[in-house]
Amino acid sequence: AFVVTAPCVGCKDTSCVLVCPCDCFHEGEQMLYIDPEECIDCYACQAECPVDAIFFEDDVPEQWQSFIQLNAEMVTQTPAITEKKTPLK
Ligand code: SF4
Ligand code: F3S
Repeated sequence: AFVVTAPCVGCKDTSCVLVCPCDCFHEGEQMLYIDPEECIDCYACQAECPVDAIFFEDDVPEQWQSFIQLNAEMVTQTPAITEKKTPLK
């Protein structure tokens, strides 16, 4: 599955949600999360993110490894998002 990482924090561009064919994205207060159970590894969202926050799980940089677990946990506590919003910055 793909994983949303640190560059999304405080940004939430939300362009990614428009291209996901599986409605994988969930919205937290400061960042988005991808549901690893729903993601089909299509790569569409990765190219869409202007701050390069999205990585395939095997390619997540060392310092952001904790985001893999964070995404999986937070999708159970946050609402799905399928429409673009105004970015935080
Ligand atoms: Fe959605 Fe594809 Fe990104 Fe997975 S890789 S979150 S299915 S757009
Ligand atoms: Fe975040 Fe990038 Fe999507 S900043 S909301 S992962 S387009």
